[in-house]
Amino acid sequence: MYQNGGGDKIEKKIVKKLKERNIEAITGLNLRDAYVKGEHIKCNGVNMDELDLFFSYNAGEQTQYQMYLYKALNNIIPCINNFDSFELTEDKFQTNYLLRNSGIKTPDFRLCHRDDSKHLKKFIKKWRQMVYKPTDGWGGVGLTKIDNEATLDTLLPFLNQMDLRFFYVEKFIDYDKTDFRIDIVDGEFVGCYGRKANGSDWRTNVTSGGSVFLREANEEVVDLAKRAAKITGLEIAGVDIIYDKKKKEYLVLEVNGIPAFATPEQEKMGLDFNNKKIDKIVDLIDKKTTVKK
Ligand SMILES: Nc1ncnc2c1ncn2[C@@H]1O[C@H](COP(=O)(O)OP(=O)(O)OP(=O)(O)O)[C@@H](O)[C@H]1O
Ligand SMILES: [Mg+2]
Repeated sequence: MYQNGGGDKIEKKIVKKLKERNIEAITGLNLRDAYVKGEHIKCNGVNMDELDLFFSYNAGEQTQYQMYLYKALNNIIPCINNFDSFELTEDKFQTNYLLRNSGIKTPDFRLCHRDDSKHLKKFIKKWRQMVYKPTDGWGGVGLTKIDNEATLDTLLPFLNQMDLRFFYVEKFIDYDKTDFRIDIVDGEFVGCYGRKANGSDWRTNVTSGGSVFLREANEEVVDLAKRAAKITGLEIAGVDIIYDKKKKEYLVLEVNGIPAFATPEQEKMGLDFNNKKIDKIVDLIDKKTTVKK
């Protein structure tokens, strides 16, 4: 589990609650520190393949090595989140493509080969404004708003210099620069908050200067978040939703596999879902380890 922003305290609470149910927890098993010896994935002297379950909540970028071992481990023991869903939601295109084909409204998007920039020009004509997104990015890094054809022309030589396989772009949605973040655990609603962009920025990410605020959920966004979480298969999901002013409808922007707990400062602001989320996660771990117990 991540240790910053109050993560260490959350971890302690989870461990304590698991103990009350006679489930012993071993903390600090970071796959970055693991190595493989025959049938065993060894980390800090523990054979991870012999655990009843692996709970991974390591925010930030996952290295290829961590993902590689996570995948192997997931074939042997239950993992939360399960690897397949986690891997899916680490990729914006793969997630949006599946959501779209499952009847969930998302921003309109296009994917084309990197040599196919003539298509990009067609899209910008149609949409007027679009957002270029690295499909595996996070924290708003690398997102580029393209305001017109001229911007695209200036940007293309730079994009061509980068070693990209394809271009993933989304229609720029006219929204009020706020979003909903809805947390779902095991199919159930656990909490909601909002984020708003800072002044001139169009991104709500805290790393892009955005801020978190108290926001009541409504039935429509909760229902949408539950459906999106179910389609991705994530046991623990944070669903980002914005309201399209033109089409007058909610859109799922993203599904996150490691939705952060409220930080101590955010809890002081009134974000009070941490305990409910902890309880639901403990229930889930209990449920998934029962067979072996
Ligand atoms: N198609 C879009 N139209 C308008 N605004 C968008 C669009 N896509 C993203 N944004 C804005 O940019 C922000 C960041 O986008 P997104 O969540 O897709 O990437 P990310 O933040 O890098 O990923 P992560 O949330 O995993 O860290 C969103 O929260 C939203 O405010
Ligand atoms: Mg985001």
